[in-house]
Amino acid sequence: MARKMLVIDDDPMVLSSCLRIFEAEAFYVVTTTSPEEGLSLVLDTYFDVILCDWMMPGLDGMEVITRLEQTSPGSAVVMISGYPSIERATEAMKRGAMDYVAKPFTPDEIVRAVNEAIQRKEAQEVKIVERFGRLAKTGHISLPSIDKKMLQALSVAIEERRRIETKPSLESLSEPERLKEITLAVLDKYNRDTNNLIGMLQAVHSYAGYLSYETIGLIARELHISEHDIFGTASFYAQFRFEEPGKHHIRVCTGTACFVGGGGVILEAVKSKLDIIPGQTSEDGLFSLERVACMGCCALGPVVTIDDQVNGKMSPAKLSRAIDKIYRTESKG
Ligand code: FES
Repeated sequence: MARKMLVIDDDPMVLSSCLRIFEAEAFYVVTTTSPEEGLSLVLDTYFDVILCDWMMPGLDGMEVITRLEQTSPGSAVVMISGYPSIERATEAMKRGAMDYVAKPFTPDEIVRAVNEAIQRKEAQEVKIVERFGRLAKTGHISLPSIDKKMLQALSVAIEERRRIETKPSLESLSEPERLKEITLAVLDKYNRDTNNLIGMLQAVHSYAGYLSYETIGLIARELHISEHDIFGTASFYAQFRFEEPGKHHIRVCTGTACFVGGGGVILEAVKSKLDIIPGQTSEDGLFSLERVACMGCCALGPVVTIDDQVNGKMSPAKLSRAIDKIYRTESKG
């Protein structure tokens, strides 16, 4: 099984280098620029090794290491820093880091440091287990004397670890199962706080492209609020769709510049041609329609996008021809 690595660094260049270097070394690599997100990721996933920058906005790398020692004590932590100093290195090791590497580093340097850190951490854990075994054998500690609470905490931790390890990867799930897992992860990320309902809906919406009735139902059950409340909140915002997007997505701009040039007429024409209104998907699933306020290219107005293609100086006739062309292509394929 591939070893898992988490890289926490506010420099995207460092993240992409680590991704490239360690994926080539058969690691499964997760990266984040946010120390807070890094700390929440370790609660769900066990990482064999964590690379952590020292100076990051928001949370100092030393503080992150201290927290990782409490929440993910089995991970080998390596601190990386563009401002190396003996004092900082010593401090990092005292707080539980296995190594300290100065930036910029070569691929060989960082790979060697990571492999050695993992080996040292594993050796450290083996020693602890052996010591515990020896003490129990020689009677220096007896199992019944172990605090009940500690046993409970251990069994909860073991169960949690088992749950994480047996959890199937997202890639192996069907689309509805994957959407469910992602929705639950989003709710956890927002601490299931209903004050963050819009943020949660936006995150799920940006993954799925719409909020299905099943998804709204799941969120309602998990947050103990009614589906009606969620729907009422979401439908207030034009950004949310409730139908699965069509195979081809048409966006018609009706911002001031485009409207003056005929954007409103184009919208009416496409509505009647496809027999849908903005937010809906045609019955055959081929087209979905969205009305937007401005696409930032007003000089080209009226503007219509079809999938990723931006079409300027549009007219109802031109759009109608473009739609017919797609129909013809789809019917051949
Ligand atoms: S108003 Fe349509 S692109 Fe700006």
